[in-house]
Amino acid sequence: MNVLLIGSGGREHALAWKLAQSKNLDKLYIAPGNPGAAQCGENIPIDANNIEELLKFAKEKKVGLAVVGPEDPLAAGAVDAFEAAGIKAFGPTAEAAKLEADKAFAKHMMRSCSISTAEGRVFDRYPDAKAYIASRDEPVVIKAAGLAKGKGVYVCEEPSDGILAAEKIMCDKIFGEAGAKIVVEDKLLGEEASILAFVDGRNIYVMESSQDHKAIGDGDTGPNTGGMGAYSPAPIVTDKLMSQITREVLVPIVDCMNRNDTPYKGVLYAGIMITAGGPRVLEFNVRFGDPETQPILMRLKSDLLEVCLAVCDGTIENVTLEWDPRPAVCVVMAAGGYPGNYEKGKVITGIEAAEEDKNVKVFHAGTKEVEGDIVTAGGRVLGVTALGDGIAQAKAAAYRAVDKIKFDGAYCRRDIADKAMKKDRK
Ligand code: AMP
Ligand code: GLY
Repeated sequence: MNVLLIGSGGREHALAWKLAQSKNLDKLYIAPGNPGAAQCGENIPIDANNIEELLKFAKEKKVGLAVVGPEDPLAAGAVDAFEAAGIKAFGPTAEAAKLEADKAFAKHMMRSCSISTAEGRVFDRYPDAKAYIASRDEPVVIKAAGLAKGKGVYVCEEPSDGILAAEKIMCDKIFGEAGAKIVVEDKLLGEEASILAFVDGRNIYVMESSQDHKAIGDGDTGPNTGGMGAYSPAPIVTDKLMSQITREVLVPIVDCMNRNDTPYKGVLYAGIMITAGGPRVLEFNVRFGDPETQPILMRLKSDLLEVCLAVCDGTIENVTLEWDPRPAVCVVMAAGGYPGNYEKGKVITGIEAAEEDKNVKVFHAGTKEVEGDIVTAGGRVLGVTALGDGIAQAKAAAYRAVDKIKFDGAYCRRDIADKAMKKDRK
């Protein structure tokens, strides 16, 4: 079967790497891909949001399955367009993708099926939002309701900062229409975990747990980023907690989406805060996480193409996911200055040396090839991922590999997986 994978980040390189291992794959196209993905298939210079051109290409090349990586094309109806043309597509429809693309909708759905989440209110007028935030004397979280490339959330210790955030989003429109509505939430305390599941409309198959590191600095300091590293499994997610999250979050939301006539299909990602009072949902994402996908797929032994097809066909009860029991750690190497301004075009060396360790895989994210060199082309540049017998060994292997890779201004956190090591009893 020919497969078209849509997207160009570290997640998509990991998906391409895994799909390329499938015995049922004839040809893999990645649009637009990156130099890492190009090692797994053929990159096609079509923007991930150009649904019309993607569909035209898929028809020409007799693509049997489209796998949509990022949220933007999902929210714009990529899956609807492919399905209408009779091509299987992995991911939710635009209506179902509102679970991520419209945080007000997500809040409404959670409330209607009694899923534990932060207390929150939705506003579409700044004066109302301001009056409400001013009436609070606790920390608040202000969220643009629409898609804001992972940057639309402000965790504010002081209500006065919350008012400033609401003003930036609603009056200055820094996220455009994505900020026409905001959600104002109570701040939750605890440790975060990412729970990803394959959902085929009815059935749920939960993947191994993982944990992201959102802040730029060691010890979770500084501004939030797209994610500076991840590991899987997350020891904080015990079997008992995983069952609770499945029972109290995943099952009800999938049922609720069916009752709402927006059945859910694809990967459902629940961002969970594990509070003293139990797990609470921070957000739903309608796709694989980035960088969580990198360590998760390093550990997946099963054929991803087969799983994606089963999701599309509504038959995931027939597949079994097999996992490498060894943990995996992914350290993101970023361009200096990220998540603020940063330079591009710095030559990267040492990737091959890093991959000499057979337990290491370097996933490309913001890279591009220029005259035979791989150069930086984005904020998050590489996801250096390693398996190890325990979390400490995986971490050590990942950082040994990181230290072999050089580019001007390279930055990474040095404490990825430390939280897991505190809990790992191995
Ligand atoms: P979201 O995109 O909604 O997951 O928010 C991005 C990040 O902001 C989360 O991963 C958390 O680190 C933080 N966050 C979001 N909502 C809350 C909340 N209610 N309390 C504390 N932190 C939050
Ligand atoms: N790692 C966070 C996300 O994918 O949204």
